[in-house]
Amino acid sequence: MKVDVLLGLQWGDEGKGKIVDVLTPKYDIIARFQGGPNAGHTLEFEGIKHVLHTIPSGIFREDTLNLVGNGVVIDPVIFQKELEKLAPFNINIKERLILSKKAHLILPTHRLLDAASESAKGKNKIGSTLKGIGPTYMDKTGRNGLRVGDIFMSNFQEKYEALKAKHVELLNHHEGFEYNIEELEPAFFEGIEVLRGLTAVDSEQFINDALKSGKSILAEGAQGTLLDIDFGTYPFVTSSNTVTAGTCTGLGVAPTRIGDVIGIFKAYCTRVGSGPFPTELHDEVGEKIRKDGFEFGATTGRPRRCGWIDLPALRYAIMINGVSELSMMKADVLDNFETIQVCTHYIIDGKQVDYLPFDIDGVEITPVYKEIKGWNTDLTKLTSMDDAPQALLDYISYLEKELEVPIATVSVGPDRSQTLDNRK
Ligand code: GDP
Ligand code: IMO
Ligand code: MG
Repeated sequence: MKVDVLLGLQWGDEGKGKIVDVLTPKYDIIARFQGGPNAGHTLEFEGIKHVLHTIPSGIFREDTLNLVGNGVVIDPVIFQKELEKLAPFNINIKERLILSKKAHLILPTHRLLDAASESAKGKNKIGSTLKGIGPTYMDKTGRNGLRVGDIFMSNFQEKYEALKAKHVELLNHHEGFEYNIEELEPAFFEGIEVLRGLTAVDSEQFINDALKSGKSILAEGAQGTLLDIDFGTYPFVTSSNTVTAGTCTGLGVAPTRIGDVIGIFKAYCTRVGSGPFPTELHDEVGEKIRKDGFEFGATTGRPRRCGWIDLPALRYAIMINGVSELSMMKADVLDNFETIQVCTHYIIDGKQVDYLPFDIDGVEITPVYKEIKGWNTDLTKLTSMDDAPQALLDYISYLEKELEVPIATVSVGPDRSQTLDNRK
């Protein structure tokens, strides 16, 4: 058996949570492989909207196991809150959710360091979600981190105090940054106690045994390719590998075990936080997309920056990830446009460029657009691609030709049921 991968091809919030939920009945295990509570994955069904941050989006389906892999960073406080929100749904968490012993823990001081670092950067701030993601991954690669497995050891408190002392030293370098760790600690230790009550395993062993015994697995990405620590719009990125390769290191599966790679993108483009965004719209069209798409962050509530679809950026993401099929999300958000613009390439220093350059933040990029006819029809009630308006079919065919990957799924609304099969 192979591990299929589902991940975002833009700057996050493409609709990964929705599609994982739709696909879950096909899989035995859903596994998150990177990121942490900076993610906000939204699922909607039976009139209820759920937002998950660390827990995989397969949690609402019976008979599916959900694994939080070693590449994920866990904040015990947020994790406890997520579990509390799930309580009314009578999910057998102890059986359906397992944690990797090697997943790293976000400490209260990681969150403080994130805030201190952002405020020190001033107008150059990353626009981090302030969940402590950067400092936690820094401690992981700096070989200082605390992991889920540590909470079961007798010296956990000692290790915690040692790392906290290091963080206090760092925090004290930030002049004028005020903090109160003692205020944050009770909730942290309460969360640790909750984690102790869950199932923690050697997840790399677990997942490879599962593959051997014929179990089907879907790896759920967080963030998006353009936020990847290596391949994103650095330094305006997150601190993990959000790309397919991250599945191997974030779950402990070999590259030869990767199966289908499902790339998710919006019919347009959004970004939350700072950093380059070549097709960003600063006008009433951008406003309209934000309003019609309800483009506000699922984790922070911040308004998302909106713009047209960017083919050079999408091609790049497809290349890095080895995408084998695409899901186009939020097509319905473009229901009321006479025309739609597609960025086909950029002009940089008077030259035509059709890839993302190294110095994307330092050069002036002028996007060049092709105008496409809009469908001007309500797609939200569509139940089959057989009834799709011709203009939508033309948009899809054009994108498939340009991207050289089939669009297997078209999403026309936030609900589970508003998902159309476009496989020919
Ligand atoms: P994720 O982080 O990739 O899981 O995406 P988010 O949940 O942060 O953001 C996607 C938002 O769009 C959520 O509010 C979803 O409910 C919503 N959504 C997903 N697919 C569609 C769609 O096809 N149409 C519309 N209108 N909304 C959608
Ligand atoms: P999902 O999984 C959109 C962005 C932040 C910021 C940058 C770094 O819901 O798609 P971090 O807190 O990771 O240090 O922030 O990355 N960011 C996201 N943007 N969706 C996300 O996750 C994001 N996770 C982080 O806004 O620009
Ligand atoms: Mg999100």
